Amino acid sequence: AMAEKAGYKHFMLKEIFEQPQAITNTVRGRINLETGEVVLPEITLGEEDLRAIERIYLVACGTSWHAALVAKYWIEKYAAIPVEVDIASEFRYRSLLVNERVLTLAISQSGETADTLAGIRRAARLGSKVITICNVVGSTMTREADGTIYTHAGPEIGVASTKAFIAQLAALFLFTLYLSQLKRSIPVEHRRRLGQHLIDSARVVQELLPKIREQIGTMIESFYQCRDFLFVGRGLNYPIALEGALKLKEISYIHAEGYAAGELKHGPIALIDKDMPVLAITPKDSVYQKTISNIEEIKARQGRLILIGTEGDTQLEKITEDVIYLPAVHEDLNPIIYTIPAQLLSYEIAVRRGCDVDQPRNLAKSVTVE
Ligand code: AGP
Repeated sequence: AMAEKAGYKHFMLKEIFEQPQAITNTVRGRINLETGEVVLPEITLGEEDLRAIERIYLVACGTSWHAALVAKYWIEKYAAIPVEVDIASEFRYRSLLVNERVLTLAISQSGETADTLAGIRRAARLGSKVITICNVVGSTMTREADGTIYTHAGPEIGVASTKAFIAQLAALFLFTLYLSQLKRSIPVEHRRRLGQHLIDSARVVQELLPKIREQIGTMIESFYQCRDFLFVGRGLNYPIALEGALKLKEISYIHAEGYAAGELKHGPIALIDKDMPVLAITPKDSVYQKTISNIEEIKARQGRLILIGTEGDTQLEKITEDVIYLPAVHEDLNPIIYTIPAQLLSYEIAVRRGCDVDQPRNLAKSVTVE
């Protein structure tokens, strides 16, 4: 049966608005907020095997790869395990340094992506332990892995992944907390608080969705006809810049690129002129001042800035009139919050350009051939 759009114009919009639920459903029952304990019984690997893990490969494609890039920051910070992030089509053919103390973690909405599947098969053959983070129950990857952490985002119909991505972030944060518990790398109370922040992020997303959608709806009038778009961010939000650019490319066919803000001066700043929109993710985080310096360089070259930053940061209005404010959350959960405006901007621009948002040209929901 055809899934319904529940009054929304597109599945993509419906799925963007289902993100608070996707977070809640993914986290439910997996953190005990009294004890700070994380439980992931679906991981059938023994705790001893997991505790012995010395290195992690995160393997994925597209949007799922962006979730992996965020998770590297989390796992290295809280579980103190070195992480490498690979695009699956590269991972499957390069030489790998794998043994039974290496964990390969595949991230996939569908669980059927050909390159990711080939990647875990190869890693397993070389002796790696394999876990998947997956949204489709019983999919091929979940059957082959030593354990699955399901994202409970519900069926995702839009070709452009939205709620599956947010659920992947939630699952990866949970998994980070789980590793920190096995490794005793952070105090219990710290883990409990981080778990609470993750749970709270669902409510924050719920509250900001309608407000931000309305604001972006008017803002895009002066941007929707542009030919190119840059997205920039630092740290944990650099992958969110990549994700924003991918969303815009996929559904609006505008050429877009995501960059680490500090990397602009090494080339892409040559592109900046009065016709180049640049969406910059500028929360009040530990790299805020550094990002602002990069933004000033864009402004000095007349780039058309859209800033997404923290409520109350009046500094941003002095730089550009196009500012989107988001509530302050724990710095490490900013990727969940800052993804929302990037998704909505892409959605509204694509609709304004008359594009087929749910079924963009040349794309399939899951790429099951190489
Ligand atoms: C996302 O908007 C894309 N349509 C695409 O990049 C997707 O994330 C990629 O093909 C990976 O799919 P998977 O998560 O099902 O493995």
